[in-house]
Amino acid sequence: MKDIIILAIETSCDETACAIVKNGNEILASNVASQIDVHTLYGGVVPEVASRIHIENISLIIKETLRQANMMVEEVDAIAFTQGPGLIGSLHIGTLAAKTLAWAYNKPLIPVHHLSGHIYANAFVKDLKFPLLALIVSGGHTELVLMKQDYDFKVIGETLDDAIGEAYDKVGRVLNLPYPGGPKIDSLAQKGNPVYKLPQPKVESPLDFSFSGLKSAVMQSINRLERNNQVLSVADMCASFQHTALNTLWQKVEKALETYDVRQFVLAGGVAANSQLRKIVKEKMEKNYPDIDYIIPPLKYCTDNAAMIGASAYIAYKKGIRADYDIGAKASLDLANGLNKGKIQKCI
Ligand code: KG4
Ligand code: ZN
Repeated sequence: MKDIIILAIETSCDETACAIVKNGNEILASNVASQIDVHTLYGGVVPEVASRIHIENISLIIKETLRQANMMVEEVDAIAFTQGPGLIGSLHIGTLAAKTLAWAYNKPLIPVHHLSGHIYANAFVKDLKFPLLALIVSGGHTELVLMKQDYDFKVIGETLDDAIGEAYDKVGRVLNLPYPGGPKIDSLAQKGNPVYKLPQPKVESPLDFSFSGLKSAVMQSINRLERNNQVLSVADMCASFQHTALNTLWQKVEKALETYDVRQFVLAGGVAANSQLRKIVKEKMEKNYPDIDYIIPPLKYCTDNAAMIGASAYIAYKKGIRADYDIGAKASLDLANGLNKGKIQKCI
């Protein structure tokens, strides 16, 4: 069978990314230009600034990615891009770049849902098996997704307020850690112990999540320590927050694994880079669910990147999914049916 090579572009938030992916699972080149240094100055992503930096970086990163793969645009089979969800100004830059390339070189244009990309990042480890349960944990999303086959997404659980990555970043801010808080809390938690008791978030619906209360609980706990003239251990608070957040996360996963008959469990999204979460998934899956296969995505492809968009686009390509040149970015693209729900997606 002929190899299918896809050039993919991702600009949904604050990373300008381009990758060239062969047959959905082999990365020929992948580059991510992070804007974190700039946004750290503001304590979070500033959408207008993100769009401007995407404009500065997009052509350079595409050119550099082609150079690393030793390819010309003429040689790729399709151009893929993240259509949504994300920051609308950021998404527009990637969408426009992809449309321009597809038009100029007469290549098929493939729109990709950002979360589908996160799920298919697991294809770099091994083939996905269906029915599959995906736990998506990122800065904008916390979702349990059931897939009976490729590109068949059913959201069976979601956050009712903050995403888990958002909670990590907000707690990071409360603890005066630089943006983004997630990786900092991850490393500090390894030096601390979960000694501060934080209430486990309670949600009526068995598969939905809630994380906004946890940030308030951290603040209350810090205030209480101050009132009692006790010294706050930042490492212990990081460990306590992480312990509570990941416990509640895993309880919902277990509930879903017990409710649905699945062959494989996959982890997805930026928070999948968390060392403790990766440990929990490995230990619990091997001990409690030996009959269910599981994948933890490669560390490099957990946070936003374009290789994952190329992996997802390969499936879309085979399914005949193509966009017309009038396609636009969608800030709130629904994973299940691709419709714009009209909500404004937050990045922080
Ligand atoms: O998937 P992603 O790169 O962007 C979105 O689509 O949102 O996820 C970014 C999120 C941020 O909230 C960041 O703090 C979190 O992932 N994150 C982590 C870690 N690395 C990134 N959270 C916890 N532990 C980490 N090691
Ligand atoms: Zn993401």
